[in-house]
Amino acid sequence: MMRGAALDSAGKRAAFALFYGPLHFLAADRVVRTLGADAPPPSSILDVGCGTGAAGAAWALAAGGSPITGLDRHRWAVNEARWTYCQLGLRGRAHLATIARLPPTRVGGGIMAAYVLNELPDPMRTRLEDQLIEAAGRGIRVLVLEPVARAVAPWWDSMAARVRTVGGRSDEWRFAVDLPPLLRRLDRAAGLDHREMTVRSMYVGPT
Ligand SMILES: C[S@@+](CC[C@H](N)C(=O)[O-])C[C@H]1O[C@@H](n2cnc3c(N)ncnc32)[C@H](O)[C@@H]1O
Repeated sequence: MMRGAALDSAGKRAAFALFYGPLHFLAADRVVRTLGADAPPPSSILDVGCGTGAAGAAWALAAGGSPITGLDRHRWAVNEARWTYCQLGLRGRAHLATIARLPPTRVGGGIMAAYVLNELPDPMRTRLEDQLIEAAGRGIRVLVLEPVARAVAPWWDSMAARVRTVGGRSDEWRFAVDLPPLLRRLDRAAGLDHREMTVRSMYVGPT
């Protein structure tokens, strides 16, 4: 997992596009399908801190093509997300934006925050958490993904408790994965061995 100034060099951007993005796609796809977050399909998906668009695209694809809007503060990421949506045949838009204040989402839609909350300074993360809980309370689906490492997200348990108050759940997952060949080669080259993938999620489903 990349943290902090994850996209500040060409090498890191390449690693994100080729390696972390696809891993996030696989993790999101498995979590979405296991939770049943693909049905009924969200009428729209807002992917906050969308990066290359991978995780949100996985949700949109699993749901049969929900329209998706990605937001990211990094111009490179916005362009990558547009490319991702286009290549995957999704109706998608991506905008340069900070996620300090979320645009309105209609009931029936979903909001995803994948591997992004841990990157935010505390006041901004708290504000986003409040907005996600408020949206969930209004019947909007919310899906948060983060790495399982406790140190990365010390706020996890308190946010998970709030998620439960609005009818949601939190889970820790371990999935067997068969990485596509290029990803497997990169994985090995990085000294990793992703035969299993771990991720944790918070999810509030449709009311
Ligand atoms: C680790 S990446 C995750 C990207 C994507 N969600 C995924 O799962 O692959 C975190 C992303 O959040 C974006 N980000 C971080 N802080 C942000 C902020 N305040 N506003 C908008 N985007 C932000 C970064 O630019 C980066 O693209």
